[in-house]
Amino acid sequence: MKKTALYSLFTYLLHLATTKAQVVGTPSGFAAGTTGGGDAEPQTPSSLEELVSWISDDTPRTILIDREWNFIGTEGETSTQCCSTATTTCEGGTSAGQAWIQDTCDDGTWVECTYDNAGPSPMQVGSNKSIVGVGDAGVLRGKGLRLSEGTNNVIIQNIHITELNPQYVWGGDAITLDGCDGVWIDHNKFSLAGRQFIVSGWGAAGHVTISNNEFDGVTEWSAGCNGKHYWTLLLIGEEDWYTFQGNWLHDLSGRAPHLGTANTDSKILFHGVNNYFQDIGGHAFDIDTNTYVLLEGNYFDTVDTPITDATLTSGALVYDTPTVDAASACSASLGYICEWNQLAGSGTFPELTEQAVLDEFAQVKDSLVEHDGVGDVATNVVANAGVGKI
Ligand SMILES: *[C@@H]1O[C@H](CO)[C@@H](O)[C@H](O)[C@H]1NC(C)=O
Repeated sequence: MKKTALYSLFTYLLHLATTKAQVVGTPSGFAAGTTGGGDAEPQTPSSLEELVSWISDDTPRTILIDREWNFIGTEGETSTQCCSTATTTCEGGTSAGQAWIQDTCDDGTWVECTYDNAGPSPMQVGSNKSIVGVGDAGVLRGKGLRLSEGTNNVIIQNIHITELNPQYVWGGDAITLDGCDGVWIDHNKFSLAGRQFIVSGWGAAGHVTISNNEFDGVTEWSAGCNGKHYWTLLLIGEEDWYTFQGNWLHDLSGRAPHLGTANTDSKILFHGVNNYFQDIGGHAFDIDTNTYVLLEGNYFDTVDTPITDATLTSGALVYDTPTVDAASACSASLGYICEWNQLAGSGTFPELTEQAVLDEFAQVKDSLVEHDGVGDVATNVVANAGVGKI
C-alpha cells in the first residue's frame, strides 16, 4: 500500500517536472494567437544534428533546450581580411572596436581576421515550433535563428543566444525575421553578437511580440568604442506589427532599437510598453520613416540619447507620451489613458505627439497590451526579464 502511494507521488512529481518544461503563458499584443508547437509532446534533442533538424523541419514541435548547444568550431573557420575603420581602432575609446567582415574597404584598411563559420549562418526555423529553454540551462552558443520563407507560428522562450563572433561586425545575428508571421520572442537573453540581437527585413516580420527579454550589451568589442554593444535591434521589415514589452536593454550604445527604413515601402507599427533602458552610452530609439511608434510607460535610466535627432526629421510618426497631458490625450482615440515615459540621468526627450499615430493604433485597439505604472518598471523588469525567470 505504502509503496504504491509513494510510487504515485513519484510519478506525479515526475509529471510535474516534465510538464513544467513547456511554453509558459500565451503571448499578448500583436502576436496573440501564436501557439508555436501547440500540444506537441515536448522533445529533448540528443545531438546538434537532431536539434537543427527538429528546428527546421515541417513537423509541429515543442523542442526543449536543456543544455548549452555549442556550434562554435562545428562548421570550421574562415581566415581572411576584414575592414578596419575608426570604429575598429577606437582611438580615445574605452574598449576595443569591431572589424568588419565585408568585401570592400573604401574607408578603412585591411586587417587579418578569423571568424567562426557557424555565426553568420543561422539555423532555419520551420513553422509551428516552440523552442523552449529548461530552467536557466538553455543556451545556443555561436549560432542564431532565422525565420523566413513563410515560416509562421513560432515561440522562442527562455533561451540565451550568445557568442556570434562578437569581435566582428557581420559576425552573426541572434534572431532574423524575414518573411514570417506570428512570432513570440519571450524571456530570452541576448549577448555577444557580432551584429544584431534581432533584425527584421527586407521581407515582412508580420505580427511579433518581443517581451521580457534581456538585451545585454556588455562586450570587449564595441563599434561604439565604449564596451557597449551597438547593434541591438534593426527592425525594417516590409509590413510589421511589434509589441515590445517588459524588455531590459542595458549596456548598449546604439540601435536600441532602430525602426524603419526609407529604402522600401515598408509599414511598421511599434508599441513599446514598460521597457527598461539602462546605461545606454549612445542612442536608444533611432526611428526612420514609414513608422508609427507609440511609446508608453518606458523608463530611461542613464541613457545618453533616448531618441536621436535624426528621428525628428526622418518622417517618422511618433507618439512618445512625454507628459501626463499627452497620456490623457490617448483616451479619445484608444479608449484608455496612456502611461507617460520617465527619464533619470538621461539626455533630452523630444516631445513627439503625432495624432496620426493614435489614429493608426485606434484601428488595432484589441492588440494594445495594458501597461504598468512607469514607477514600477525598473524593479519589475530587472526581476522578470531574461532567462531562468519563469
Ligand atoms: C502549421 O499549423 C497550422 C495549423 O495547424 C497548419 O495549417 C499548417 O499547415 C502548419 N504548417 C506547417 C508548415 O506544417
